[in-house]
Amino acid sequence: MDLPFDGAISAYFNAEAPEDVRNAIRRAEKGDILDGDYPHSDRMPRKAYEKDLAKLQIELVKLQAWSKESGARIALIYEGRDAAGKGGTIKRFRENLNPRGARVVALPKPSDTEQTQWYFQRYIDHLPAAGEIAFFDRSWYNRGVVEKVFGFCTDTQREHFFAQVTDFERMLVEDGIILVKFWLNVGRAEQLRRFLSRERDPLKQWKLSWIDVEGLKRWDAYSAAIAETLERSHRDAAPWTIVRSDDKRRARLAAIRTVLHRVDYANKDVQAIGPIDTDICGGPDIWN
Ligand code: ADP
Ligand code: AMP
Ligand code: MLT
Repeated sequence: MDLPFDGAISAYFNAEAPEDVRNAIRRAEKGDILDGDYPHSDRMPRKAYEKDLAKLQIELVKLQAWSKESGARIALIYEGRDAAGKGGTIKRFRENLNPRGARVVALPKPSDTEQTQWYFQRYIDHLPAAGEIAFFDRSWYNRGVVEKVFGFCTDTQREHFFAQVTDFERMLVEDGIILVKFWLNVGRAEQLRRFLSRERDPLKQWKLSWIDVEGLKRWDAYSAAIAETLERSHRDAAPWTIVRSDDKRRARLAAIRTVLHRVDYANKDVQAIGPIDTDICGGPDIWN
């Protein structure tokens, strides 16, 4: 079978990837954490992860029950570079929830008609009603990052976006929506390693697009657009939670704990939730 991205990622790896990134990936056969600055030297063992995750999923079930009972509306936003682990994290959140009332919102690129609308318009239809949890796999923050990096919007459109986004989110929160914004941060070598693995696996190929291939070469442009976006949209009403996601397991647990600690649902068991790993999860300052 001819796979659509056959070879594009490995060609980049062989010909263009920075030497240190290449070396880190070659060393990673044993499953090392690739980012040398990552606060943990090893990945979390499966057993410990599954034990924690099971407890957290029980709490998530209580959260959903409470939201249905009380009519709470919960919007969770997952942002991050390609292969940062957005989809996998959302999957763990939803695993034991009633899918009715736990919707994933993963919008395609805007249609010609949508292009003519107010930028936020198409997202509004997908905001949660009473009893619903909406999981945004990417969001309006496309305009801050990928649209900038690939020139899908003009600078003027992007300035409009920044001028509006903090008010937009404040209105949602003032209206009573519980809004949590995650930025999943993946290192350069780990991102490339995940792409290589997707390229090799016919079942993961759907996760790859030309944007991923081209985006590899634009790492620094992404970094700049991300830094600016976080800076201009981190506000008290709707703060960012950064999760360093080179270790997927630690990242998923930290993200779920963040939501559970944030919301006062019925029968909450704070002990069962356990502490957030503040070395990998916190405000934008965890990078400084
Ligand atoms: P994903 O990471 O969701 O698998 P891609 O990496 O292909 O998808 O694209 C990243 C994001 O860029 C997606 O949200 C996609 O809708 C958006 N995008 C792609 N092309 C355009 C475009 N021409 N204009 C605006 N957004 C686009
Ligand atoms: P994936 O990114 O899910 O395709 O994982 C590819 C490989 O990375 C796996 O075969 C594991 O060896 C390794 N890996 C990823 N995350 C972990 C983790 N938390 N603990 C141990 N190994 C991991
Ligand atoms: C992720 O793994 O971060 C996303 O779900 C898929 C992608 O953006 O490549």
